[in-house]
Amino acid sequence: MKEKLDGIKRAALAGIEKAEVFQDIADLKVKYLGKNGEISLIMRDMAKVPKEERPALGKLVNEVRNEVESALELKGNMLERKEKEARLKAEAIDITLQSDAHRLGSLHPLTRVRRELIEIFSGMGFKVAEGPEIESDLFNFQLLNIPKDHPSRDMQDTFYVNDNFVLRTQTSAMQARIMTTSEPPIRVVIPGKVYRSDDDASHSPIFNQFEGLAVDEHITMGDLQGCLTTFAKKIFSEDTKIRLRPSYFPFTEPSVEVDVTCSMCHGKGCRVCKGTGWVEILGAGVVNPAVLDMCGIDSKKYSGFAFGFGIDRIAMIKYGIPNIKLLYENDMRFLAQFN
Ligand code: PHE
Repeated sequence: MKEKLDGIKRAALAGIEKAEVFQDIADLKVKYLGKNGEISLIMRDMAKVPKEERPALGKLVNEVRNEVESALELKGNMLERKEKEARLKAEAIDITLQSDAHRLGSLHPLTRVRRELIEIFSGMGFKVAEGPEIESDLFNFQLLNIPKDHPSRDMQDTFYVNDNFVLRTQTSAMQARIMTTSEPPIRVVIPGKVYRSDDDASHSPIFNQFEGLAVDEHITMGDLQGCLTTFAKKIFSEDTKIRLRPSYFPFTEPSVEVDVTCSMCHGKGCRVCKGTGWVEILGAGVVNPAVLDMCGIDSKKYSGFAFGFGIDRIAMIKYGIPNIKLLYENDMRFLAQFN
């Protein structure tokens, strides 16, 4: 009996030792400690044992039962923990995996520059106005001192809608609209789309202009120069300088073309400024007295300055964009860079 019990104990402990998964432990528990388990059955054999040996043997059976029980529990806990860990590991979600949802949009570079320009000129007291893109010949040309059939019309390749209407070639058209409808003092900037039959790396048939007009008593070229110097420093950088070169526009007299020191090389000469250190950015001048008079403003009392430039050109210089077409193609790879 005692030997039999010993054998059961050894077999049980060896079985527990070899158990590899939790289920093995559960099976062993049934095999040895279950209702018909080997240790339980041996208790029933107790009747066959002589009376005087029973207490000692009973104690021994209890000891073996306890020993097997705690060995089962120890190994069982260990295997259970191990299996749980493995399961968690297998089920884990990889939070470092890229998701392709929700890409944040960004402002178009032209929108950014336009907003920045409005901010700058608002700071100098200018209001903002907008006008129609299909414009009458009167506002786009005639009131700006560009009569029908005059050679100066050739300066801008125009899309004609009919004899009297064009796709506006310049935001200057709004100068005439504003001067015919309001009294000085006038300080206004006009952002907007314009159209010309022109197409290469730096010209698009549709582009964006930004016009400025100031009309008041005693306005001079000096005011224009001061205003544009402030603008250039704010939009490019504090060390930016401007220079004025004589030019010609029918609606300003005198007229100038304005260059800024290259913001890429700061005047040293590079690809952007073609080695000159300067980039041309706009046309401007003192409002031609003939234009004031045509628009119903007394040129003996008032004078003004006007300027106009391409928002596209400013964006191209500011961000080093080599081709104007990039601004109109809506290529996400290009636009995403302005996040
Ligand atoms: N409208 C002119 C152009 O498109 C620019 C300009 C505006 C020149 C105002 C002088 C004054 O080229």
